[in-house]
Amino acid sequence: MSRNVYLPYSVTSEKAHIKSMEQYREMHKKSLESTAQFWSEIASQFHWETPYDVNNFYSYNFDVTKGPVQIKWMEGATTNVCYNLLDKNVRNGMGDKVAFYWEGNDPEDYSKITYKKLLEEVCRFSNVLKSKGVVKGDRVAIYMPMVFEIVIAILSCARIGAVHSIVFAGFSSDSLAERMADCKCKVLVTADSVYRGDKLLNIKSLCDIAMDKAKNFGHEVPTCIVVRHLPRLYRSMNTSNGTNGSNSDIIDLHSDVPWTDGRDYWWHDEMDDVEPSCYPVWMSAEDPLFMLYTSGSTGKPKGVLHTTGGYLLYAATTFKYVFDYHPGDVYWCTADIGWITGHSYVVYGPLANGATSVIFEGTPFYPDNGRYWSIIEKYKVTQFYTAPTAIRALMKFGEEPVKKHNLDSLKVLGSVGEPINPEAWLWYYQNIGQERCSIADTFWQTETGGHVITPLPGCTPMKPGSASFPFFGVKPILLDESGKEIEGVGEGYLVFNKPWPGMMRTLFGNHERFQSVYFSKFPGYYCTGDGARRDEDGYFWVTGRVDDMLNVSGHLMSTAEVESVLTEHPDVSEAAVVSRPHPVKGECLYCFVTPNHGVTFTPKLSSELVKKVRESIGPFAMPDVIQHAPGLPKTRSGKIMRRVLRKVAINDREVGDISTLADEHIVEELFKNRPEKS
Ligand code: WT7
Repeated sequence: MSRNVYLPYSVTSEKAHIKSMEQYREMHKKSLESTAQFWSEIASQFHWETPYDVNNFYSYNFDVTKGPVQIKWMEGATTNVCYNLLDKNVRNGMGDKVAFYWEGNDPEDYSKITYKKLLEEVCRFSNVLKSKGVVKGDRVAIYMPMVFEIVIAILSCARIGAVHSIVFAGFSSDSLAERMADCKCKVLVTADSVYRGDKLLNIKSLCDIAMDKAKNFGHEVPTCIVVRHLPRLYRSMNTSNGTNGSNSDIIDLHSDVPWTDGRDYWWHDEMDDVEPSCYPVWMSAEDPLFMLYTSGSTGKPKGVLHTTGGYLLYAATTFKYVFDYHPGDVYWCTADIGWITGHSYVVYGPLANGATSVIFEGTPFYPDNGRYWSIIEKYKVTQFYTAPTAIRALMKFGEEPVKKHNLDSLKVLGSVGEPINPEAWLWYYQNIGQERCSIADTFWQTETGGHVITPLPGCTPMKPGSASFPFFGVKPILLDESGKEIEGVGEGYLVFNKPWPGMMRTLFGNHERFQSVYFSKFPGYYCTGDGARRDEDGYFWVTGRVDDMLNVSGHLMSTAEVESVLTEHPDVSEAAVVSRPHPVKGECLYCFVTPNHGVTFTPKLSSELVKKVRESIGPFAMPDVIQHAPGLPKTRSGKIMRRVLRKVAINDREVGDISTLADEHIVEELFKNRPEKS
């Protein structure tokens, strides 16, 4: 075993679910060799209205040359995910247990909701959705801040068989419009506005613009339901039980919320008129549960579709083992529910385990840079799950803000979204985990539904920066360029040749694209788009994307997506975007822009372009650098040599072989044109 291996939580791990690597290996082996038995034992802990057949538990085809790609688990069985998350727990005596603590943007705003109350609210909202004509299979778009109502909306969809399609509320109106039109949502659920730090965001106004724009894409959103969130922040709302206060004494601050009668409805008005009970719709295990858009390398977002039975099993099982969750723990995942991390590890995984979690509306920097640590102290958080970009941003403020808080409750720390650099890992381990906690560096994707490569706390000896070993049911494979499997130590394309229950089933409305994006490069394999290395101890190290995707602060986006926004500008002729390493964001956008003939590249044009990307995609996609490119380095066949641009971005003159370029001189010119003189 190489040096720098850490094993802390295991020192106190008698209580851990998986106590040793030996036990892990045994279970992992069983999960691969007796797959049906392994997962059916887990499935037996849930309610099935129509039972599954252990002898016909799953089937799949990954080989496009042999027929359509398909993945099925427990087909024919029926259940309801919401029933398993709420009714089942309430029936098991957990009705009064807190499902979520809510911590508002302002530290004075906090609340909590029990399992029983959550169920009641979900039933009500299910009835509201039904009253708007939503039936099984319909899509419901959700664009909301981190408030209880987003969870209520999600679970209501699951209860009545509607497919939720959440769009992270940091996306622009263009992005929301495109996604709503693609999924043809029957309802949009949103909120009036929200504070992020001291910035007020008028979400409903943005939704109005998006609903207008969706019409241009050929879709009219019939109904919009709006949570009145802002006014309740103006009063003390710390009710001891239930949701964020009652609606009766909300001050009316909403005369300025844009409104379309006949389409827009207030959440609280609708909730007043409905019954607090609603019978769940029994869903086939392979019926869709939700869709979630992720960036595609051609620019158009892909609607990743997850189904009912397999996703439930996988979210529940990964949550239990990867965070070593035990009753009594208080778990906190900082991810926004609008991303897959929030779906699987704020909502589905924790509730499937009857867990108590924290939902946080704000930012790590408000009112000060110790906010995360103060929340951990306040709720005595035992498992904390965040992203490397947040850790790096907080590291900058040193240990002082951390030391002001008691973090002794922590047992497990999680990391997700991008490779965590060893420096950030060690800071997290030493200062937040006090060398006592395990760090779960979880590698996964929107497409995988849940963790696929991750250490298990109390069991896996950790190497900073390595996601280590596969989860149960998962067998990672490394392929070389020719598609040959690499045995032992080596680096290659990270792929899988067998499904686990939680992996996506298709791209919404586009099975062709699903097959061509993920299964065509190497027939017989699901291609993650990431590269990885296996070391001498068998640890996996995910090295990053091997396609034209960038990961900025854990947000995946494609170079094509940003380039197409830049070239929409009337003064721009051509654009090429590359990723440049960034100390906090991991990667950032470095854009090369060729203006139209006769147009001068000015600081004004540059700032217009930055603004345009921000407005078209979202603030997280804001470019760090726009560089004037009199021309782009192209091969004679016209392909942009991006590796050269990546070198220019970091001012590294070791550009390698450029003899195939149509015009080699352009490279020197690009170096000369760098806006930063470093
Ligand atoms: C891509 C997936 C999974 C939820 C958040 C992002 C990168 C994610 C890790 C990790 C190295 C990671 C990969 C992956 N990634 N986690 N622990 N180590 N890389 O979901 O937006 O679908 O992005 O994020 O490149 O393919 P996503």
